[in-house]
Amino acid sequence: MKTIATDVDDSVQKMMRMVELQKAKPGYAIDPYFYRSHVVYQKELSELIFRSWIYAGHVSEIPNAGDYLLFEIGEDSFIITRDAEGEVHALMNICRHRGARVCENATGNCKTFVCPYHGWVYNLDGSLRAAREMDVLAGFDDAVLGLKRARVEVFMGMIYINCDLGAADFRAPLENIRQPLGAYDLEHAKIAHKETFRVEANWKLCLENYLECYHCATSHRAYARLHTFKDPYEKVSHIVEAMLARAEEITGVEGVVTPHRKIFADAEGFGCCVSHDRYGLYEPHQTGSEDGNAVAPLMGHMRGYDGGAGDFQMGPVTSMLNYPDHCVLYRFIPLGLTSTDMQIVWFVNGDAVEGVDYDKEKLTWLWRHTTAEDEYIISRNSAGVNSQFFEPGPLHPGFESTLMSFYDWYLEALT
Ligand code: FES
Ligand SMILES: [Fe+2]
Repeated sequence: MKTIATDVDDSVQKMMRMVELQKAKPGYAIDPYFYRSHVVYQKELSELIFRSWIYAGHVSEIPNAGDYLLFEIGEDSFIITRDAEGEVHALMNICRHRGARVCENATGNCKTFVCPYHGWVYNLDGSLRAAREMDVLAGFDDAVLGLKRARVEVFMGMIYINCDLGAADFRAPLENIRQPLGAYDLEHAKIAHKETFRVEANWKLCLENYLECYHCATSHRAYARLHTFKDPYEKVSHIVEAMLARAEEITGVEGVVTPHRKIFADAEGFGCCVSHDRYGLYEPHQTGSEDGNAVAPLMGHMRGYDGGAGDFQMGPVTSMLNYPDHCVLYRFIPLGLTSTDMQIVWFVNGDAVEGVDYDKEKLTWLWRHTTAEDEYIISRNSAGVNSQFFEPGPLHPGFESTLMSFYDWYLEALT
């Protein structure tokens, strides 16, 4: 990884100045400063990332009491647990004694978490169970020394967390997409595959790349052959409208096409972005696969292939592209100033059997292929924007409009 030289005069004051300058240039890409500044990165974590709802996992990953999984953001680690009563918790993986990580395995099952350092013991809900020999300390109160917690919202099998205990409620915004998302019955879906692409680039470059499809025609030949999203709407409106007209009847799902868009500054609460739109595939394609043919049994309540795909956003850094026979979740997590984990999760119907109902290679081909292409262009983008000679250019008013919404929200949130 290349290191970014810190500006010698970088400071919160400089960041404020840069935000004001950037706000005066709407419709333009953002200044390289925002990709290079360590001050900005720390502010992004505290003001955006740790105040937003983020997908942390799926209920099928922790089905039993004592199951847990780790989720890393930046330099932090969270333990997502299920307790004996079936409740899901998000615990900060930091011992309340002197701060050691209490859990190292990425997944597992246990009754308690025992800190490897001095042996404090925590329950699955984070409460402190035992602190060796600390009874000699007058006033030692184990009730206030449980692992710190993040907020949790489980919606249709998807576990979301938010580190801000005072964060806006996420449930009500999510209810707006209950009908179209419910079509896939994600609560009972099966994870067919998960893959994390670690990209040596700032997290915003990875997210920005996902938020626009201006690059799809040039960078993603396989994707562009199937998805109308790579074209201006006027050129493909007849395809999309025909799909929208037949979708409910073919899929058998009422509300499968219902659009909703409240993202970034328009979200119902900070970090509560929720959107859905159904867009068309070029005929006669059924799904997002190498040849456009189905790759798995229909999901959930879907009864047929309407030639459409549901495009969802849930929180600022989590999106989903849902085909009738499989769903693809995307999550962008900053690990450092120039390091990002792009995680993809492929879901199939709950009773689908690998090797019988689907071939994992075929199921995952398109988005592994497309993501490898993204990795390539994002790393080139990173090299360019990290040059002191980069001068941000104008954005496309249609294709890159979501990017502009992101920038507006982002600049506001930084300050
Ligand atoms: S740091 Fe965990 S018990 Fe001391
Ligand atoms: Fe892309």
